[in-house]
Amino acid sequence: PALPLYDQPLPIPPVKEPKMIITNPTTGEDILYYEVEIRPFTKSIYGSGNTSLVGYDGIAPGPTFLVERGQETVVRFINNSPSGNSVHLHGSPSRAPFDGWAEDITEPGEYKDYYYPNQQSARTLWYHDHAMRRTAEDVYMGQAGMYILHDPAEDALNLPSGYGEYDIPLIISSKQYNDDGTLFSTEGNTDSVWGDVIHVNGQPWPYMEVEPRKYRLRLLNAAVSRSFGLYFATEARNTTRIPYDVIASDAGLLSSPAETTQLYLSNGERYELVFDFSEYAGQNVDLLNIARSVGGIGVDPDYANTNKVMRFRVSPNPPQEEDTSEVPSELREVPFPTPDTTVDHVFRFARTNGIWTINGVRFSDVANRLLANVPRGTVQRWQLENNNGGWSHPIHLHLVDFRIVARGGARRVLPYESQGLKDVVWLGVREVVIVEAHYAPYPGVYMFHCHNLIHEDFDMMASFNTTVLPE
Ligand code: C2O
Ligand code: CU
Repeated sequence: PALPLYDQPLPIPPVKEPKMIITNPTTGEDILYYEVEIRPFTKSIYGSGNTSLVGYDGIAPGPTFLVERGQETVVRFINNSPSGNSVHLHGSPSRAPFDGWAEDITEPGEYKDYYYPNQQSARTLWYHDHAMRRTAEDVYMGQAGMYILHDPAEDALNLPSGYGEYDIPLIISSKQYNDDGTLFSTEGNTDSVWGDVIHVNGQPWPYMEVEPRKYRLRLLNAAVSRSFGLYFATEARNTTRIPYDVIASDAGLLSSPAETTQLYLSNGERYELVFDFSEYAGQNVDLLNIARSVGGIGVDPDYANTNKVMRFRVSPNPPQEEDTSEVPSELREVPFPTPDTTVDHVFRFARTNGIWTINGVRFSDVANRLLANVPRGTVQRWQLENNNGGWSHPIHLHLVDFRIVARGGARRVLPYESQGLKDVVWLGVREVVIVEAHYAPYPGVYMFHCHNLIHEDFDMMASFNTTVLPE
């Protein structure tokens, strides 16, 4: 049965409140302490059937953390779910023991305390399961949530603000249901699970009532495999793409706003934009997906409504209060790494004998999966290659923010990619990308991988080690 479009309101994940304040034994500083329980729950999403899910605090997406830069946090993740898990805070340079290593499993009935320094600049992060062979199924079943870091420099810009009010999380995913309303499982699939039902914040094709004014929209692709090419159009003139400003990417604000009419969003990526609804009072503005394999960059199959994401119903009445927010022409000085000119490593993302590999190595090949020793504190260029036309790979490096230096293939580096720092880059079909990062601050062994979660689970993941110091 087909689901109605734009029929249910967009849910906003609740804000996570700390349980208490504890003291950092070394510095004496306050640490906000949170507890999150990972547990099964049911929800009626598709038709009348009950869908079994597993989520942080029993909701999906999980609650949103709102944290100030420099405010340390400890989150106790209590596993009351039927399977082992590991939590990664994506966008945080966490110390290795708290980074959600795929084999650092918290078993059912156990808990683990994760420490996050939150020293990086304001940005949209997200937390999600990272357990080996389980990441796809666990994220799909609900183990994903947003974590928003604010800082005074960004607050001073007077961008549209107020979580859930004019600053809106849009966590996009794509799933597939059985006729009885249960989720079609990703288990046993070692290729990709595309899904034909597009969700935002856990609700298929929702709508949101907005005022005719500016909104900050925080987009996150939390889908297992599907990537998007997003654009806005009014219901009445649905082929005319409306321009808007991209203001931030994975690592926070861009140097200046990048105006665009279309935004690629692959798995794990975040982009923030300011959309001005003021000219559309009384109209419907739709968020749509270009589909057709995402404009030829991906291989994602299209279904009846995978070209639609959600609808904004713009009120015919003036805003409740005058909209004094603005998008300044300069957003911040982005801390780009000092340029390096040599390529230090080449990594080829491929399928070898039916298995997803990096330079022919799979993550379960424990003896060989450490693919780079990177002296801590140095800048390196890595060349990422996808020589195949049959699949694409969003590549995520843990620990660092990188600059996308160059792209070869059908696309060039896009302005909204080059004006900020990233932690995921979408390697489209037959593309080569060069990324440059400052490998700091912590020593340790960190993962890098494809963020198509099926590819990651089977087995397109490897590690690098920043323990060594430069000579
Ligand atoms: Cu969003 Cu290694 O993950
Ligand atoms: Cu991949």
